[in-house]
Amino acid sequence: MVIAAVAAVLVLMSLPWWLPARIVAVRAWLFARINGEEGIPVPGDLVGVERFREVYAHPAANGRSKGAALSDLFWYWLSPGPEMHQEHLEAGERYDAVAHVTRDLLVVPRAQAEQLARRCAGRALEDVRGLIRLRDLMMPLWAEFSYELVFGEPCPREARDLIAGNANDVVTSLKCTGLRHMRRRLRLTGYLLDRLHLVRRPLPAGLTPREQAYYLQGAFFNTAVVQMSEAMAHLLLVLAQHPDVQRRARTGDDRYLDQVIAETLRLYPLFGIAHRITTGDIRLDERTTIPAGSVLCFDYPEFHRAGFADPGRFDPGRFDPALGERPAKELNHIPFGVAANRPCPAWRLAPIAMRVVAREVLDRYVLDSSVTHTRSLPSRGPCLLTPRDAPHRPGPVLAWLRVRDRWEDVWRSLVQLVLGTYMVWHARRQRLCERHFLTEPEDRHVHPGPRHGS
Ligand code: HEM
Repeated sequence: MVIAAVAAVLVLMSLPWWLPARIVAVRAWLFARINGEEGIPVPGDLVGVERFREVYAHPAANGRSKGAALSDLFWYWLSPGPEMHQEHLEAGERYDAVAHVTRDLLVVPRAQAEQLARRCAGRALEDVRGLIRLRDLMMPLWAEFSYELVFGEPCPREARDLIAGNANDVVTSLKCTGLRHMRRRLRLTGYLLDRLHLVRRPLPAGLTPREQAYYLQGAFFNTAVVQMSEAMAHLLLVLAQHPDVQRRARTGDDRYLDQVIAETLRLYPLFGIAHRITTGDIRLDERTTIPAGSVLCFDYPEFHRAGFADPGRFDPGRFDPALGERPAKELNHIPFGVAANRPCPAWRLAPIAMRVVAREVLDRYVLDSSVTHTRSLPSRGPCLLTPRDAPHRPGPVLAWLRVRDRWEDVWRSLVQLVLGTYMVWHARRQRLCERHFLTEPEDRHVHPGPRHGS
C-alpha cells in the first residue's frame, strides 16, 4: 500500500518532465490523422537546404490556399473574412490591389515610426512592474500602433480593447490554448465597417465595404498585432534570460540591438512553416519534378539552423560583421520571408519599431525569467520586471516561476490536445477554403504570378 502510494506520488511529481512532450507527439499524430498527411517538407529529402531559397522563389511556388487541406484549418483560425486576408489571397488583381494598400499604409518616415512606437510604449508601460506575461503586455501597445498607422490618429481605448481582444483570440486559438470567440472578432469587424471612411489612404477599389473591413482586420489588426507582440515577447524573454546580453543591449548602440533582434528571429522565427501550393511543375533535375498541385512546406526553424555552428545556442555575434561566420546576406536567415515570393510587407518597419520599444523597456526595467523558451511560446512569456531604481532581488520569484511554469506546461498541453483536436475536426467540417473555391468564379482568384527567375 505504502509502496503504491509512494510510486503514485513519484509518477505525479515527474509529470512535468515527460508528459508535455508525449502530449505534443500525440497531438501531432492526431492532427495528421484528421487532416491527412500532405506536403513536401523543404528542406527535406527532395529539396535540400542549398536549394531552399531557389524553390521558395520559383514562380510556380505561388499558390496560397486553393488545393491544400491545410488551408481549411488556417481559414478557420483567421476567420472572419479569411478569403480577404492578404496572406491567403491568390495572385491576381485583388491581391495586387490589397498588397498596394498595405505597402501604402506601412510607408512611414523612420522618425515618425520611431516616435509612434515610443509613444505607444510609454502608455503601455505606465504603472507596470512585477510578474507579467510579455505577450499580454505587448498586445495593447501594438494595437495602438496599428490603429494609428491605419487611421492616422491616436487610438481610442475602445478600439484598443477591441483590437487586442481580436488579436489575442486569434493567436490563442492558433496555439490551441483556447477556442475561437467569433462574436468578439465580429465586434471589431463592425467597428471597422463604421470607420472605413476615416482610413488615411484609399482602400482597395472593387471590394465591398465588408471585404475592406475584413482586409484591414486581417492584415493590420490581426497579423500585425500578433506578429509584433510575439516578436517582442521573444526578444524581451531572450534579454531576460541572458543578463550579459541585456546589460550590453542597454548600454550599447543600435547595431548591437539589431544583432540581438536578428539572432532572436533566427532562433525563434515567427513562422514555423510557410506553405505554398505549386501552380505549375518545378523541375529539379532530369529525373525529378515537383508536380503542379503539390503543397510545399517551407520549414523556417530547420532552415535557420542549417549552416550555423552550434545552431541552438543564442549568439548575437553571428550577425556582427567583425565576428560573424559569414556575411549576413549569405546566412540562412529569412525572418521576413524571401523577397521574390510575397515577403512580409513590414520587413523594414518592424525591426525599427521593435528596437525603439526594446529600448523603452530596457531604460525602465531589469528583466528576469526562468521559464522554458520555445518558438511557439504558449506560456505568453512570464517575466519579472523590476524598475531600475528599485532593489533587484529576483531569486525567490524565479524559483517559484520555474516550478509554476513546469506545472502549467502539464495542464496546458492537455488543454492543447483537447481543444486542438476539436478545432481541427471543426475546421474539417466547415471546409471554409474548399467551399469558397467551389462557389467562386475561377478567374477571380487564380492568375499566373509574376515571373521571377528560378
Ligand atoms: C517582427 C514582425 C514580423 C515578422 C517576423 C513577420 C514575418 C513574416 C513572414 C516570414 C512572412 C512571409 C510568409 C510566407 O512566405 O508565406 C510575412 C508575411 C506577411 N506579413 Fe509579416 N511579419 C511581421 C510583422 C508584420 C506586420 C507588422 C505586418 C503589418 C501589416 C505584417 C503583415 C504581413 C502580411 C500582410 C503578409 C503576407 C504578405 C503577402 O502574402 O503578400 N507582418 N510576415
